[in-house]
Amino acid sequence: MAGAIGRPLDRADGRAKVTGALRYSAEVPYPNLAHAVMVLSTIPSGRIHTIDASAALRQPGVLQVFTHENAPRVTGSKGPKDDNARIIAVLQDDHVRYDRQPVALVVADTLERATDAASLVRVRYGATDAFTRFEHADAFTPANVQHVAAVEDRGDPRGAFAAAPVRVDNVYTTPAEHHNPMEPHATVAAWDGDNLTLHDATQGVFATRKRVAEVFGIPLSHVRVICPFIGGGFGCKGSTWPHTVLAAMAAKALHRPVKLVLDRPQMFGSVGWRPRTEQRVALGAARDGKLVSTIHTAKTNTSVFDIFVEPSTVLTKMLYDVPNLRVAQTLVRMNVSTPTYMRAPGESSGSFALESAMDELAYAAGIDPLELRLRNYAETDPGEKIPFSSKSLRECYRVAAERFGWSRRAAQPRSMRAGDELVGYGMATATYPTNRSMASALVRISADGSAHALAGTQDIGTGSYTVFRQVAADGVGLPFERVHFDLGDTNMPMTPVSGGSQTAASVSSAVFAAAQVARDNVLAFAAADASSPLYGKTSDDVTVQDGRFALKSDPSRGETYAAILTRHPVGEIEGRADSAPAADAKKLHSMHAFGAQFAEVRVDPQLGTVRVARMISAFASGRILNRKTARSQYLGGMTWAIGMALHEVTRMDLRNGRIMNANLADYLVPVHADVPALEAIVVDEEDPYVNPLGVKGIGEIGIVGGAAAIANAVFHATGKRIRDLPIQPDKLV
Ligand code: MOS
Repeated sequence: MAGAIGRPLDRADGRAKVTGALRYSAEVPYPNLAHAVMVLSTIPSGRIHTIDASAALRQPGVLQVFTHENAPRVTGSKGPKDDNARIIAVLQDDHVRYDRQPVALVVADTLERATDAASLVRVRYGATDAFTRFEHADAFTPANVQHVAAVEDRGDPRGAFAAAPVRVDNVYTTPAEHHNPMEPHATVAAWDGDNLTLHDATQGVFATRKRVAEVFGIPLSHVRVICPFIGGGFGCKGSTWPHTVLAAMAAKALHRPVKLVLDRPQMFGSVGWRPRTEQRVALGAARDGKLVSTIHTAKTNTSVFDIFVEPSTVLTKMLYDVPNLRVAQTLVRMNVSTPTYMRAPGESSGSFALESAMDELAYAAGIDPLELRLRNYAETDPGEKIPFSSKSLRECYRVAAERFGWSRRAAQPRSMRAGDELVGYGMATATYPTNRSMASALVRISADGSAHALAGTQDIGTGSYTVFRQVAADGVGLPFERVHFDLGDTNMPMTPVSGGSQTAASVSSAVFAAAQVARDNVLAFAAADASSPLYGKTSDDVTVQDGRFALKSDPSRGETYAAILTRHPVGEIEGRADSAPAADAKKLHSMHAFGAQFAEVRVDPQLGTVRVARMISAFASGRILNRKTARSQYLGGMTWAIGMALHEVTRMDLRNGRIMNANLADYLVPVHADVPALEAIVVDEEDPYVNPLGVKGIGEIGIVGGAAAIANAVFHATGKRIRDLPIQPDKLV
């Protein structure tokens, strides 16, 4: 398809972003805006005995202090599939269930006054013993674990493992991690009578509308959620959290708009995080490396009041061809806030365990790690027993290995050096499911020869504005420059939450369909006009390019959108479309993106410091809508893999359940000096089944397998197998 789709166009909103011209949720101005600051608990478990807000209330400009004693009652939401349903029932009782739980909200006429007054609220607690020990907690299998599809038994995994000539059986752990998008969570809430408008930093305007409407017991039509720009989401903005409810609650009670923005330490509180995982992976293989049994069980933690499962075992069901398999998940409850989705929830933590274990199996069998993966290549989905809609993993392995120079790798660990440093090469497989949900869009074509496309969706920093404009342009047959695209508002057509890497697949389908409906509606108008060269014609008879319909039989005969619509009484014609996957689509084909990640590390044997020297990865994710924004997403995921491997860990003081490093000085993320020149290679792939444009999601796959590739490279460099992330120097010396 010639046109805008696929071109490496600059972000439509790039200039406005870097010049600071556009407005994020926290920057929306309102007259008479009040500022709210949360007071957070300093214990993880217990009851609030007293809250003394009198000093805070005496401060100038303070409008109100909300506590469980005076906060308006809200219904909350307790649906069984709602992972974070209870955490948002905020200020409803005197129980403290996690560290940094909001226990009061101070509202004042300025942020400074609210911040100062919040420091004066005195809370006395009766602390009770907190569950803070992941190791000691009783594990259970939650009833809803099936819905994350992370449980399966196939064949006789235990028997086959016991009989296998080559075996590895180890435990891998990944730590608690906190998302830290540059833009913190932020909400501006304003009521007009019974109608609430929320400017909320959210990955799902419609999901937030639904959750907030439930909490306040009001109809969906009374809530409008607006979010045109997001400074990063990564999963933590994929659910509704206490601050959004608090802002709306305060705005309603005070009859004025209220802004609530989290500061950085508060980002480690009530807004989600990646739980810890403890994973056992046992692999049994024949002497040639062919897997005969895989056992992968994961224990993760949730809060004491909600259920969230990090589905670490989910990828193990489909990644390699193995006849006997068991995957299972258990949960432990701890006095922590409810964990949530964090970039490739499940696949990122699970791939660290599985792909480390595959590397261990390669050494145990004396087979090259890449060759081991090829010998266990799954030609069809081994769990679902259906074909893949497309799978170009072999090509990913080939191009990334070649570009990386994998053949130069000496098999023996600790045998490659550069000066005083140990050199290691490691690799791992990446995969992520291709998801798609029902989405709608509207495209309007105007007499000036331009088109305006709308869908309520979000741009979480991925490039939605740009790619959907490209899709709309090709759908109507106009140049990219003649098309506008707007998003981020529940008044626009309905779309799903931007999670599970599903936005491009879901919304591109709807935008393309709506654009074609709009195009055909314009054609139908012209076709009814006896004076038009398009009289009596249908879409089969014409092509449309650069805004001009031309007869296939005689391209010199035709008309432009502008010419046609100038004759239209309103001067514009629109098209709407709803687009949903077929109900049985995933029963017929297994849909996943794949990739191969290769890393070179340098390890200082004296200091134990690890540097990633190179990372070269290849990904096949169906049709790429924009090669530039796609590359940025891949690089972002790979960068995060470096952080996951070497830096990120949220530390809790086990004596009192407090998070000790709730700031960006102590919670380490990769900085420029940690990130070498990364290379993300796009492997072109056509997929006729996933959705009309053949798009697979790319937001999450870039992190999957990356930490294992680095850990495997560290083993190759040093001969030390680190099964506990992050790989910090003390683990290597
Ligand atoms: Mo993504 S972690 O599914 O927002």
